[in-house]
Amino acid sequence: MLYATISLTAGEHQYPIHVGSDLLSDPALITPHIQGRRALLISNETVGPLFAPSIRRALEDVELDEYFLPDGEAFKTLDRVTDAVEHLIRGEHTRDTTIIALGGGVVGDTAGFTAAVYQRGVPFVQIPTTLLAQVDASVGGKTAVNHALGKNMIGAFYQPQAVLIDTDTLKSLPERERIAGVAEVIKHGVLADSGYFEWIEAHLDEILAQDPAVMSHAIARSCEIKSEVVADDEKEKGRRALLNLGHTFGHAIESALGYGEWLHGEAVGAGLVMAADLSMRMGMLAPADAVRIKRLVTRAGLPVMPPEGVRGQLRELMSRDKKASDAGLRLILVRRIGEAEVVESVPEALIADTIGIGEGLCAA
Ligand code: NAD
Ligand code: GLY
Repeated sequence: MLYATISLTAGEHQYPIHVGSDLLSDPALITPHIQGRRALLISNETVGPLFAPSIRRALEDVELDEYFLPDGEAFKTLDRVTDAVEHLIRGEHTRDTTIIALGGGVVGDTAGFTAAVYQRGVPFVQIPTTLLAQVDASVGGKTAVNHALGKNMIGAFYQPQAVLIDTDTLKSLPERERIAGVAEVIKHGVLADSGYFEWIEAHLDEILAQDPAVMSHAIARSCEIKSEVVADDEKEKGRRALLNLGHTFGHAIESALGYGEWLHGEAVGAGLVMAADLSMRMGMLAPADAVRIKRLVTRAGLPVMPPEGVRGQLRELMSRDKKASDAGLRLILVRRIGEAEVVESVPEALIADTIGIGEGLCAA
């Protein structure tokens, strides 16, 4: 059942984001976005066997090829893109082939980047199957793979033809992964909509219990917020950077621990609390709001502090963040719940305090 369709406009390109249950096997939602007579389904060894049969049924009239990646962030690399491109070339796929990305953010980012570079770009459709990918990664056209020296360092802005979000896919998602996705849901409330933040506070238990109507609303509202920001600033020249709230800290944690040790959403959870902590130290955010953010992240079951063993490395790793400009580190901080902003020239001593060397909200 279709719950909502959000339309995202990025420059000349406009595409639908369908949200609902039992959508995967509905030919009417996916067929219009398959450009030629062939498609390549890119998934991974975990997700492919679960949901590829539904997509095969929906695309009976399409010649559907399949390519399954190994599972894990460790495989979000250029080598795997090269492998996928080799599969496309050997299968004599032309520029009319549509790539279908079926999986979490790792598959979406890798398949999306493959679509962006194969023969200078082929159409692609996102079918996200984790909460994190449904509320964030599949929407907005950021595609990338990791380099050993930094996360998402090789990538392109490349928009899909459509995003198909079937909430039923979340039933098989491990609990830890579901909780990780909640971090990005909370992020959207903090950065753009205080009413939505309040709604998440009120409905967190139902989100964690996967109540279908509540999940559909959380996903659709998150996609609306993200779509509105992306429509305004597709290539992240300004406002889109706000969507990275918590990510400068989060990426540094992931990078220090080694990809895969903490889930991306877990690192974002701690990153949100650290961003709130620093905003409070900067005198921007009322302590009561910083406490509300920390309380919600805690209730979700997400980490709220960086692991002690890596704190010494975080500041240097933060400088490698893509938001760092020639002028130095730029951080996304919170003015009030529902409003974030890009801040340059944050005093180093305050950053050090937030990382956990000093006392404060984050360390409390
Ligand atoms: P993931 O893709 O690694 O998926 C998590 C795990 O869940 C994997 O083992 C996967 O195989 C499994 N899985 C996926 N769907 C399942 C299902 N329905 N049932 C059972 N198992 C399932 O992790 P993720 O959290 O979805 O994505 C994280 C990645 O997304 C990171 O690489 C991050 O950088 C990227 N990301 C990208 C953007 C963007 O805008 N492009 C935004 C946020 C995050
Ligand atoms: N996840 C941040 C963005 O898409 O811009």
